[in-house]
Amino acid sequence: MKNDQHLRWWQRGVIYQIYPRSFKDTTGNGVGDLPGIIEKLDYLSDGTGNSLGIDAIWLSPIYPSPMADFGYDVADYCDVNPLFGDLATFDQLVAEAHRRGIRIILDYVPNHSSDQHPWFIESRRSRDNPRRDWYIWRDPRPDGSPPNNWGSAFGGPAWTWDEATGQYYLHQFLKEQPELNWRQPEVRAAMMDMLRFWMERGVDGFRIDVVSLLIKDAELRDNPPNPNADPTLPPNDISGRQWPVYNRDQDQVHEIIRDFRRLLDEYDDRCAIGELSLELPRWIRYYGQNGDGLHLPFNFRLMGLPWQAQAVRRSVDELEAALPPFAWPNYVLGNHDRARLASRLGSQAQARLAAMMLLTLRGTPTLYYGDELGMENGVIPPEKLQDPPGLRLGKEHSRDVCRTPMQWDDSPNAGFSTAEPWLPVSGDYATRNVTIQSADPTSMLNLYRRLLWYRRGSPALFGGCYQPLDAGDNCFVYLRAAGDERRLVALNFADGQRRVSVPGEGAGRIVISTHLDREESVSPSGFELRPHEGVIVEL
Ligand code: GLC
Repeated sequence: MKNDQHLRWWQRGVIYQIYPRSFKDTTGNGVGDLPGIIEKLDYLSDGTGNSLGIDAIWLSPIYPSPMADFGYDVADYCDVNPLFGDLATFDQLVAEAHRRGIRIILDYVPNHSSDQHPWFIESRRSRDNPRRDWYIWRDPRPDGSPPNNWGSAFGGPAWTWDEATGQYYLHQFLKEQPELNWRQPEVRAAMMDMLRFWMERGVDGFRIDVVSLLIKDAELRDNPPNPNADPTLPPNDISGRQWPVYNRDQDQVHEIIRDFRRLLDEYDDRCAIGELSLELPRWIRYYGQNGDGLHLPFNFRLMGLPWQAQAVRRSVDELEAALPPFAWPNYVLGNHDRARLASRLGSQAQARLAAMMLLTLRGTPTLYYGDELGMENGVIPPEKLQDPPGLRLGKEHSRDVCRTPMQWDDSPNAGFSTAEPWLPVSGDYATRNVTIQSADPTSMLNLYRRLLWYRRGSPALFGGCYQPLDAGDNCFVYLRAAGDERRLVALNFADGQRRVSVPGEGAGRIVISTHLDREESVSPSGFELRPHEGVIVEL
């Protein structure tokens, strides 16, 4: 299996996440849209090395939504938000993407809908409404307080009181995001139909939002307190003050995931990706018992580590050792919820190293739009803040910083829009943009292009086995191999020059350096890497 050349697209391919609001605006309202994505498909892949060379696009939610959480509050699961286009534009996007060999992955948000979804509007109408139990309603405790101690990830309790019907409803995010009751068979059936709807339209896969939350404890018990918690946090701070034991990762969630899989498997070659953050032994269960679960439970581990060769290697090796044979690895270094990769690592040089690592490890990489330019966290003035956690919990919690408009060129608004963008364009756009970086042979963008196109042609990289080597201080060095093809990847995390030594290897040739300034023969038994330099060596 490990050397199998007949891999599925989601195994050999590279996924690129687009945050539709911020990619390209064609209507002049300051918000990106589907025609904008269609316009930029050739940038993503035109079949040649002049384009980026990705294989699939994952779109953050494009459904009708009041945008309380920027689309993660869905008011209709089977339509397109007029802000972005309509179903006909979506069909055109699928056709145009497929014509270029690009797959389309939709965000699927099954844990909660918008409070403006017709189901919830009905559900809150009365206690005996047929849709009442489509959501999670409970009586107050005798003292009138919420049914349990759970908190919302965006601050405050996870329960909101409904005066009209005298009960609380559950929401682990905003009160505008009431949670669907996945123990209710009709909810399950209706939500499965949504997947069918989009697969019939040609959608190739789904990224399932907060998948481990779908089933909660049947009795909705209080989460136990975390004895080591920071006492300044509010008592219902869900990840700090509590052990999240009862609000997520319940065994029965795997039944639902198996149902998703059975449904996807009725269609040809569709892919299920899940968003979840759990300890490795709990996380790994999301692949299913014999591979009947998610194809790719997102692996966010590398984003939480100190950027240091041994820590990163340990995480990769633990994953490799833990994965059962049917499970395919994957790595994520950035998304719409985290600080920008280049800002997190603190330098463009380290971001280049990260790019080489992400695109040469064994497993499916997911890239976040703009990381291919080395985009950094935007600076958002207080009056321009948009993200609810930023507005409620303080600006350091705002995810706006990683959602600023894509930087296409040095024209006003970075070529993103003719109008004032919904979030300010990052200050560096005049020097950091697609046009400038396309013309610069050693730019970050050209590094990504080189790596992506090289990877595509290298069975060792997209499908081969992985073997770590002890080869240099604060260096992460590994071999990737498929059949006779062998590639050595050597990544120097250190601020200083390092010598890498892989004994027993005859001759090698550096084909890509992260500095994009050398292609030369080297002796693997001893060669130098400059500070923060990574290389791919053909053996
Ligand atoms: C996921 C999304 C995040 C959203 C939350 C609630 O974590 O990635 O952006 O706010 O779910 O839907």
